[in-house]
Amino acid sequence: MANADVEELIEEARRAQAKAYARYSGYAVGAALRAASGRIYAGCNVENAAYPLSQCAEANAVAAMVLGGDREIAEVAIVGPGEVLCTPCGGCRQALAEFGNAGVPIHICGPTGDVVEESLGVLIPHAFGPDNLADPEE
Ligand code: THU
Repeated sequence: MANADVEELIEEARRAQAKAYARYSGYAVGAALRAASGRIYAGCNVENAAYPLSQCAEANAVAAMVLGGDREIAEVAIVGPGEVLCTPCGGCRQALAEFGNAGVPIHICGPTGDVVEESLGVLIPHAFGPDNLADPEE
């Protein structure tokens, strides 16, 4: 059973899912990130008539977090619409790994409340990330 903090994060992801612009796929996704600061940022998928330009919920939540001034992800919730849980796509795993370590818990939720928890390091093992590059901010 999810604790109160996790339930709050999932609720934020559900609120975001309700705002998704999934006009072409009909597949609405919401994501919420808790930053290390404790602040929560959410995102939904935003599709485009030029299909490849569509944006995923998780990537949009990451963008909201950066705009909000946070740079470290502590926990993630993702809500999809289908019976098959919406595990994050490969691009979103990479986007999350830019700002989250391997231990970050990802709560993946279905429409009826079933939740699977997996760590980011399991979803994207040996991620290529900022540590692979010289720090351009130094
Ligand atoms: N989608 C997400 O928002 N996140 C994922 O991790 C997987 C897929 C979106 C993209 C597209 O708008 C719709 O779901 C169907 O692929």
